[in-house]
Amino acid sequence: MSMPKKKTKEKKAKRKTSASSESSEKKLKTYSLLRGMHDVLPREEKYWKNFYHTAENLAEHFQFSRIETPLLEEANLFIRSIGKGTDVVDKEMYIFEDRDGNKVALRPEMTASAARAYIMHGMWNQSQPVKLWYWGPMFRYDRPQAGRFRQFNQVGFETLGDADPVVDAELILLAHNFYKDLGLPVDIHINSIGTLEERQKYKTSLIEYYRAKRSYLCDDCKQRLSKNPLRLLDCKQERCQPIKEDAPQIIDWLEDESKNHFMKVLEYLDELGVPYVMRGTLVRGLDYYTRTVFEVYPQITGEGGSSMSVGGQQSALGGGGRYDLLVEEMGGRPTPAAGFSLGIERSVSALKQYFDANQIKPPVKKFDAFMAQLGDQAKRRSLKIINDLRLSGLKIDYNFSKNSLKSQLEAANSLQVPYAIILGQKEVQDGTIIIRDMESGVQEIIDQKKTENMLKKKLARFDDEKKR
Ligand code: HAM
Repeated sequence: MSMPKKKTKEKKAKRKTSASSESSEKKLKTYSLLRGMHDVLPREEKYWKNFYHTAENLAEHFQFSRIETPLLEEANLFIRSIGKGTDVVDKEMYIFEDRDGNKVALRPEMTASAARAYIMHGMWNQSQPVKLWYWGPMFRYDRPQAGRFRQFNQVGFETLGDADPVVDAELILLAHNFYKDLGLPVDIHINSIGTLEERQKYKTSLIEYYRAKRSYLCDDCKQRLSKNPLRLLDCKQERCQPIKEDAPQIIDWLEDESKNHFMKVLEYLDELGVPYVMRGTLVRGLDYYTRTVFEVYPQITGEGGSSMSVGGQQSALGGGGRYDLLVEEMGGRPTPAAGFSLGIERSVSALKQYFDANQIKPPVKKFDAFMAQLGDQAKRRSLKIINDLRLSGLKIDYNFSKNSLKSQLEAANSLQVPYAIILGQKEVQDGTIIIRDMESGVQEIIDQKKTENMLKKKLARFDDEKKR
């Protein structure tokens, strides 16, 4: 009788240990990110927010309207527009079949989606050009490395329905202003890759040139020679550089019309004072481009203050160009168009590096005032005051987890807000509030009902003084 009891005890103990090791295994199980994916943490927020505000302001100034399209589209939309033989289509698309057997893809970029939307929603009926901007995640199953992710974000601007070179110049000006507003010095590289026919003739001469040097080429370039000869100009391998330098340049293959178009773009840029670097080997990695192409690179100040920029696709902060045939090729009416997109992760990283190297403080959030409160009643009341002020268009920061006035005013100080509004028990009872000038420390007690008016008046005076 005792044996079975012991066995049961042992069994129980065994069960217990295996259950506890299971639960400890369960506890230990944590999840990491998929390769090439990343989180954007709160400490990065100031850069991202600043980037978004810059985009929004410039879009408004240059009259672009925001468009949002799905992350998932028919795979063929991208295959046809970006082109077979490009890295994006051949190697980097997230393609799969949905439950109905449809071949779908996570968008690797948004120009094709914007063109699809333009056709689908009959935007050619609107006054032309139609100017669209977007912001969001893109997906490319690329080999992850610094500045290269499988999910990354872009902001983009597309002008559809106008062939005039002024459109190309306006877009390049926008890209230039973007980084100027952010405080990051950049170089804009520019080239023209002509029309399809001109490019075809150029490709023939490029193949001829490279074929004669085939045995000296890296393995990738040997493949590019037969698959996508324009990509030969992207090669980063040391051994291919001298060959690339002497390669024929596409600009010499342009007919008068394309040449004139490009000259006009450059004239506009000169007139606008937008600096650019002519780069004969710049051809871009997507097939839909015609004529003007450009890329943006972070500027690195070399010895003696001379400026140089790092070439190579991987370090490009953004790029774009004209794509006059895309809409028609996708079944729409002939619609000349141009656009560009900027990589947000790469731009944020370049900004951080630049600010660190030059000991520049990252931009601070701009608030109009900080609301400080003392005591339970004041806390309750201040939530209402903050909301009323926010509804009136003012930006108010606050921190309810700090209870002492000193720590709240320190927070206000580090935010560099011009004013703090302070509410204590006494003010709640009196129906008053204190406005404190953060620079001089002078405080004024006012009627609570006049907070909005008074603050707005003071802020207007503050802005005037700053301008002087
Ligand atoms: P793209 O040159 O392929 O052009 O991409 C634009 C920018 O997105 C790049 O310069 C880079 O900053 C960023 N980017 C691209 N791939 C990655 C990646 N794997 N990880 C991180 N960032 C990346 C386009 O996408 C075109 N749709 C631009 C355009 C608009 N052309 C005409 N309109």
